[in-house]
Amino acid sequence: MYEQASHAMLNDILREIKPEIGDFRLRHFYTRLGANFYSIHSLFRLLYGDRLDFKAQMVSLVETLALRYMERVPDLRKSDLARERDYNWFLSQKWVGMALYCDRFAGDLKGLRAKLPYLQDLGINMVHIMPILDCPPDHADGGYAVRDYFKVDARYGTTEDVEALGMTLKKRDMLLVLDVVVNHTSNEHEWAQRAQRGEKKYQDYYYVFDDRDMPDTFEETMPEVFPDTAPGNFTWDEAMGKWVMTVFNHYQWDLNYRNPAVLVEMIDIILFWANKGADVLRLDAVAFLWKKIGSTCQNEREAHLLLQLMKDCCQVTAPGVLFIAEAIVAPSEVGKYFGEDAINAKECEIAYNATFMSLLWDGVATKNAVLLNQGIRHLPVKLDRATWLNYVRCHDDIGLGFDDKDVRLAGYDPVQHRHFLLDYFTGKFPGSVARGLPFGENPKTGDARISGSLASLAGLETALASKDPAPIDAAIKTIVMLHSLILSLGGIPLFYYGDAIGTLNNLEYLKDPSKRDDNRWVNRSYFDWSKAELRHQSGTLEQRIFNELKKMITLRKELNAFADFDNRQLLAVDNPHLLVFLRTDMHNVRDRVLVVSNFNTDAQRLPLGTLRPYGLFQKNAMRELCSGACYTVENEAVMIPALACCWLID
Ligand code: GLC
Ligand code: GLC
Repeated sequence: MYEQASHAMLNDILREIKPEIGDFRLRHFYTRLGANFYSIHSLFRLLYGDRLDFKAQMVSLVETLALRYMERVPDLRKSDLARERDYNWFLSQKWVGMALYCDRFAGDLKGLRAKLPYLQDLGINMVHIMPILDCPPDHADGGYAVRDYFKVDARYGTTEDVEALGMTLKKRDMLLVLDVVVNHTSNEHEWAQRAQRGEKKYQDYYYVFDDRDMPDTFEETMPEVFPDTAPGNFTWDEAMGKWVMTVFNHYQWDLNYRNPAVLVEMIDIILFWANKGADVLRLDAVAFLWKKIGSTCQNEREAHLLLQLMKDCCQVTAPGVLFIAEAIVAPSEVGKYFGEDAINAKECEIAYNATFMSLLWDGVATKNAVLLNQGIRHLPVKLDRATWLNYVRCHDDIGLGFDDKDVRLAGYDPVQHRHFLLDYFTGKFPGSVARGLPFGENPKTGDARISGSLASLAGLETALASKDPAPIDAAIKTIVMLHSLILSLGGIPLFYYGDAIGTLNNLEYLKDPSKRDDNRWVNRSYFDWSKAELRHQSGTLEQRIFNELKKMITLRKELNAFADFDNRQLLAVDNPHLLVFLRTDMHNVRDRVLVVSNFNTDAQRLPLGTLRPYGLFQKNAMRELCSGACYTVENEAVMIPALACCWLID
């Protein structure tokens, strides 16, 4: 779009920026800047237009984009061009991700390179390395309290190791995912330290207050993220003699994006890691980016404008790089992180599907799919060129963040139902086999979340202790079923590093004073390589889980119907234990997979009445892809085994 004001401004900026930028070969850069500048300028003006330094900050932003472009190596520029041409590349079903800690999985970054064969054996081709940047060792929040955004923690390696790993991954057609912690820094970050020393410039990088007036006003409407270990959203800083906003832990200072300098710094950091070879950047805690008195300080419109700006800027310098939004928010809010009022995704192309994750766990506890069916129906409609990151477990706790309306429609009372789930997963509910821990209990609101490893939550720990093969079998089936669903729903499945070998809760963290109050560490253990070896030994639980997952991953990659082009239909069937959906290949509509999942511990009848109009089971039988078994119709129904997820084709 040609817009005079932004065009004139672009000309001004190009006259003003550092002369060396003009000399460089920047053809693609200027094309992209021209294409995106109207949007960048408009957004920047919306956020910062009334500031005296508006123009200077715009110049600094464009300089940042250009300087990082000049630094981008030819291989990455080539890949940018290729991805611009094939812009739906990441919607393909071929991608299967895993999140892991490089130290806990492989010692360090070099070690990780040596462990790639394990990932490739399983079929993983997208690796999310949990944060690796320099953090104060005792106040790190698992890497999310960054002290230096440009320095890899020496325990993991160096920036060169990241680049080398990126190149190795590229050769193997694998993607590298890195974190950018955009919402806060460590209190030991240079900006925070200079703020503490009284530099006004850096105090403006954070939300800093002389007295309790503003903090108290904010607190009236702000929820607490870690109510038990880090209550309140502000911390008194002795050195500075002021209050500072700390939504997460007291040592994580929230950045003040009302100051454009902060945004420019962060865009520079994003592009720095894009230039080190990251294919995808996971933007942490994005819901929290904008704070406003009288609001929850989550999901504010300005947070979206900031993300749109980050995306627009990244498209100018490193257009091949995708963003993942880590926004663990209500179903009605999460869709907005793909970009509001847009047709194509223009914020983050990928978003964590936390709703689906917690719905899956609801199915495990209730042994039916009532809320799951209800909740999936209300997943936000995605934009084109946007996709979910579907996961069962990650390094964090499980929040029971379903929509209360859906809980009621499913026939439950929201408060009671959440209590039930909490009791179920912490093993208090009679007959529960789950061994989770309550996380973030808030006596003021009665809320709590759940920690625990997938296998322990699915009952494997209890079952192994009983030495009874039947519950062991049920736990393994549950683990496989949950993975089968993230592989088939539509979106990029993200595995978590110990789950393919049934890693249980690990209490090691209790020995570490810096970790023992945070029970999320129960699910962040050192990867047990001798246990992983057991995947080669027939009959072991490791082999049973690993092989099933591996088989499903291989199949997924071959099924075009599993690519994510909004090609999923949820089918209503008359059996509350079943989740049933149809995936269709958009290029060949006869190519379909019927996914049927039974959350119950008994086999269930799938009545065909509502499925017949779709032309399903026309020949009175369908083949299950993973087992090869034939599912035949009897009395107008098909029996679905207990705790199974079937991929049925004609
Ligand atoms: C993200 C991370 C979580 C961390 C929080 C604060 O939600 O996933 O582990 O505690 O951000 O940075
Ligand atoms: C909250 C945040 C989420 C974070 C989690 C950490 O749920 O919304 O971003 O991952 O806390 O436990």
